[in-house]
Amino acid sequence: MPGPKILATRPLFEDARSILQEKCQVEYWREPERIPREELLARVQDKQGLVCLLTERIDEAFLRAASQLRIVANVAVGFDNIDLPACTKRGVAATNTPGVLDETTADFAWTLMMAVARRLGEGEALARSGKWTGWDLDQLVGADVWGKTLGLVGFGRIGRAMARRAGGFRMKVLYIDVRRVPEDLEKELNAEYRDMDTLLAQSDFVSVHVPLLAETQRLFTTARFARMKPTAFFINTARGSVVDEAALVHALETKKIAGAALDVYEKEPFINAGLKRPNVVLAPHIASASLETRTKMTCIAATNIRDFFDGKRPANIMNPEVLKTTE
Ligand code: NAP
Ligand code: GLV
Repeated sequence: MPGPKILATRPLFEDARSILQEKCQVEYWREPERIPREELLARVQDKQGLVCLLTERIDEAFLRAASQLRIVANVAVGFDNIDLPACTKRGVAATNTPGVLDETTADFAWTLMMAVARRLGEGEALARSGKWTGWDLDQLVGADVWGKTLGLVGFGRIGRAMARRAGGFRMKVLYIDVRRVPEDLEKELNAEYRDMDTLLAQSDFVSVHVPLLAETQRLFTTARFARMKPTAFFINTARGSVVDEAALVHALETKKIAGAALDVYEKEPFINAGLKRPNVVLAPHIASASLETRTKMTCIAATNIRDFFDGKRPANIMNPEVLKTTE
């Protein structure tokens, strides 16, 4: 009997294709440009499963078009592109890819932090420009990272991976989260809980690791940037909309903070011109982009789909209540 019909909005990676193709009939979107919305809505009509990226909006209109859909597997840990209550209401299972990208994402947040503090973007541009005149005493002097205070906003998987890195740099670690973590974990990670205002006032680097939720939308406002030290740097690998981008531009313009390093933006792929400044390092949403990790992420999405159609509970199901009707 032919297996369930699946649409994958990218060709994924070979390992993930092998998992999906074990039992499913898979249609891949193979064009170089991303799948246009109308094409997605047309192609999903006869599909029971979808493997999608965070750039695809899984909302009411999509779900109306996808009347046969039973599972959507997001190739990302963040799932702000998915209307989870709408999926649940229609009995559509939704999965994400937590855990496998923590270290890779923390590596990249660390890279951004180092790059902005040590002015790597400016240095790289100078080295390539043909205008470099040689070593000079006050050339591109930046700020030390080691020994400074790192403030982590969001102390989940990736926030904690950042804390582990901080040990090697002999940094003091402050954190804020919805809840304080148990004391033994604070000790292990050498991290101290602070309320938001204190964390902002005491940190030399503020790195954001919260999911985008109604409560975290525009968490970083003009008032919050004003609380940071004028010598401090702001790092964001979480989601652009966690920040009021105009407020960030204003904070940079008025030197309320020393600089920023960003992987994510409010309206990707648009980047506010006010962020294109020498003291801002800009990356195109690539924090999890190592071949190893992206391969694992696609394999997890594929496995979630395969397990679902095998009648097993997908490991990363975000709305397990829908399984009651399918288990
Ligand atoms: P996680 O393990 O769920 O950690 C997020 C933490 O933030 C949780 O402890 C959560 O608490 C906490 N939190 C929620 N609302 C908060 C608030 N208002 N104030 C303070 N803390 C709050 O998630 P993760 O795996 O570390 O990933 C974090 C986010 O990073 C993802 O959602 C995604 O958007 C982003 N990300 C981006 C990239 C990239 O490529 N740039 C890669 C990976 C992840 P509760 O659990 O109690 O809600
Ligand atoms: C990437 O941004 C993710 O959420 O996995």
